[in-house]
This record gives sequence, structure tokens and C-alpha cells, in this order.
Amino acid sequence: MNISNVDTEDEEQTLKMPGSTDSPLRILFQKIMQYFWYYVISGTSIALPSMIKCLYVKAPVIAIEKLEKRSDQVAVMTGGPRGIGFDIVKKLFQLDYTVILGVRTIAVSQEGIDKIRAFGIPSGRVKFLNLDLISLNSVQKFAKEVLASEEGSRIDLLLNNAGFVNRNYEMTPDNIESTFQVNYLSHFLLTNLLLPRIKETVAKKGGDPCHIVNTSSHAQRAGKINFNELEISYESLLKTVSSCSRKNTGN
Ligand SMILES: NC(=O)c1ccc[n+]([C@@H]2O[C@H](COP(=O)([O-])OP(=O)(O)OC[C@H]3O[C@@H](n4cnc5c(N)ncnc54)[C@H](OP(=O)(O)O)[C@@H]3O)[C@@H](O)[C@H]2O)c1
Repeated sequence: MNISNVDTEDEEQTLKMPGSTDSPLRILFQKIMQYFWYYVISGTSIALPSMIKCLYVKAPVIAIEKLEKRSDQVAVMTGGPRGIGFDIVKKLFQLDYTVILGVRTIAVSQEGIDKIRAFGIPSGRVKFLNLDLISLNSVQKFAKEVLASEEGSRIDLLLNNAGFVNRNYEMTPDNIESTFQVNYLSHFLLTNLLLPRIKETVAKKGGDPCHIVNTSSHAQRAGKINFNELEISYESLLKTVSSCSRKNTGN
């Protein structure tokens, strides 16, 4: 493995002088400085341009009540009804969508749906399917189940919303760095697996568009991918993903 800039326990050990021990106070100070840098300095500098832009660019706001209902339409979303996902599902229910949610824990996600219903929103339907983006197998299984389900006979909207940040360099069972796989690669695979059904839906609607929405973050500006540092090459990564797609679509 050829990785630079990786914050591991092993590396920290090699930087210490033989026989030296850090005092707890020094370790505490280092941790505080690390968090201060990560969340305050780096976070603020990344978000500042958008915060300033928000002051003078007013995004158009359309009242949800003024939008047409989508009673026959289906949305597929990754992640459960919490965080940003909570508000997305709430709006989709208000528009009377059928929502297929790919979630890790169905019971916890049901609690989110109950909270949305508690706002007095009776419209919209939900179907839960298990999905853990940490595994390409789980993504394939989820896509298969969506495509085989009655609800998934059409897909008008795909929301690649789930995401996480692992500040430690950890590998997934597929031997890929975890943040890269969960946030990007698994969604790339899922989009490819569902794309034929999305295209069929466009045809069903006489050419009216369907939409794919990828939720991202300004935090991506703070990093860059060095493809030479991936544990598997870019080419074999593409091969893995396209062979997964072929197996599932039969093309
Ligand atoms: N909040 C912000 O200020 C902000 C800013 C910029 C970008 N974003 C982006 O917006 C999206 C949503 O963020 P959020 O703030 O709503 O985050 P959040 O509250 O932490 O929710 C993240 C969602 O992703 C799901 N998830 C995480 N790892 C998963 C995995 N391995 N497999 C399946 N689902 C997984 C979680 O599922 P569980 O419920 O099972 O944990 C949860 O539903 C993310 O893509 C994030 O990068 C957020």
C-alpha cells in the first residue's frame, strides 16, 4: 500500500523518539488543536464563500402547496429520514410521491417516518429496503430488489443523499477507502444499475425528464483524489463497477 498523508496510530508511533512518552496534557492539547483546525479554521474557510454568497443571492422559493402533486411518481433515496433526508422525505410526502428508501436500520427509519406523519402529512407512501453503501454487494442487492419491486416499476427521481466522513483511513470489505466508497463509488454503481429503469420511465412519460440528484459538500474542496494512491487501479475499479452493472442488467 502506497499512501502518504495518512493519520494512523502506527505513523504516530514512528514519529516519537525511542523511549519518549507524551504527557496526557500534551496529548489533550494536540487533540484540541487538531479539532480546532479541522472544524473551526478549515470548516469556516470552506463554507465562507457560500455564506457570503447567500447574503446577496436570493434563491427562488416556491411554496410546496403551489407545486403539482406527483401521485403516480416514484423516488428512490439512499439513507433514512434523518438530517437533510428528513426534510427531503417530508417534501416528497407532501407532493404525494411513493418513496423507496435504502436504509441500514428499518426500525430507526420508521421512527423518522412517524415524526413526519406527526406534522399532519397523510400523503405519500414509503417502502424500506436494506442498503449499506459500505458494501458493493449490498448496493447490487438493493438495486435488484428495487427493480423487482412493484413500486420500482418506474423511477422518476433518484436521490443519492446518504453520506458520511470517516476521519480515519479505513478500508471497506471491498478493500476500498471507506469515505470514497460510501459517498461516491457506491452511488456511482447504484446510479448505473438503476439507469435503464430511469430511461424507461422517461420514455413512459413521452420524454419528460427524470432527475438524478447527488448531494455533495463544500468539504470536497478541501481534498483531492490521487488515483495512484488507490489500493486498486482506476481501470480495475471501473471494471469492477461495470461488471457489477452487467451482472444485474444482463447486458
Ligand atoms: N448537514 C450538512 O450541513 C451538510 C453539508 C454539506 C453536505 N451534506 C451532505 O448531505 C448529505 C446528508 O447529510 P446529513 O447532514 O443529512 O447527514 P446525516 O444526518 O449524518 O445523515 C446521513 C444519512 O446517510 C446514511 N448513511 C451513512 N452511511 C451509510 C451507509 N454506509 N449506508 C447507507 N446509508 C448510510 C445515514 O444512515 P443511518 O440513519 O443508518 O445512520 C443517514 O441517513 C450527505 O451526503 C452530506 O455529505 C450535508
